[in-house]
Amino acid sequence: MTKRVAILISGGGSNMVTLADSMRADDHPARPVLVLSNDPQAGGLAKARALNIPTFAVDHRPFGKDRAGFEAELNRVLEKAQPDIICLAGFMRILTADFTAKWEGRMLNIHPSLLPKYKGLHTHQRAIDAGDTEAGCTVHEVTAALDDGPILGQARVPILPGDTADDLAARVLVQEHRLYPAVLRRYAAADRTPVFLSGEINAPS
Ligand code: GRF
Repeated sequence: MTKRVAILISGGGSNMVTLADSMRADDHPARPVLVLSNDPQAGGLAKARALNIPTFAVDHRPFGKDRAGFEAELNRVLEKAQPDIICLAGFMRILTADFTAKWEGRMLNIHPSLLPKYKGLHTHQRAIDAGDTEAGCTVHEVTAALDDGPILGQARVPILPGDTADDLAARVLVQEHRLYPAVLRRYAAADRTPVFLSGEINAPS
């Protein structure tokens, strides 16, 4: 039975596009059924519409600090789409334990660091400031603790002398676009074997 995938975004949606493109393969065990954003102006919504994927936006701003109210609206939209899997892809809102508990075991996230290092924000600058020689991205199952669930895949890239955070973010993003589709394909086939990739220094950018 083809798994139904909802993708949550906040911005440009480049990870969403690569996930959606990957699911166009005839033998893929999943297909996208919804792209949902917390920002009605998110550029990824137009990209999803161009891919004929149903979209919805739940603007978080009117809810203020009422996270439960915002998430109740997210759930109302999600429950109509009946996803088997939720992929957080550049989704920048912190989710409550109630929301993650409801979807636990069915929700993935991609984080731009080699977890468990550098949970939270500004991951690339922190890796550079620490003098690390490599960085990367992680796909993990979402649990109540931020950026902390079981790891389903990682991709590594070198940190090069003189790298800025933007240089590193661009190098990592290339690997995000390889890693997330690879993990989703396994996860949709009920295979939780982790995927480990490494980015060639001279990989085409
Ligand atoms: C990416 O750098 C990713 O690491 C983070 O959000 C950023 C934007 O992602 N999760 P996208 O282009 O909106 O998919």
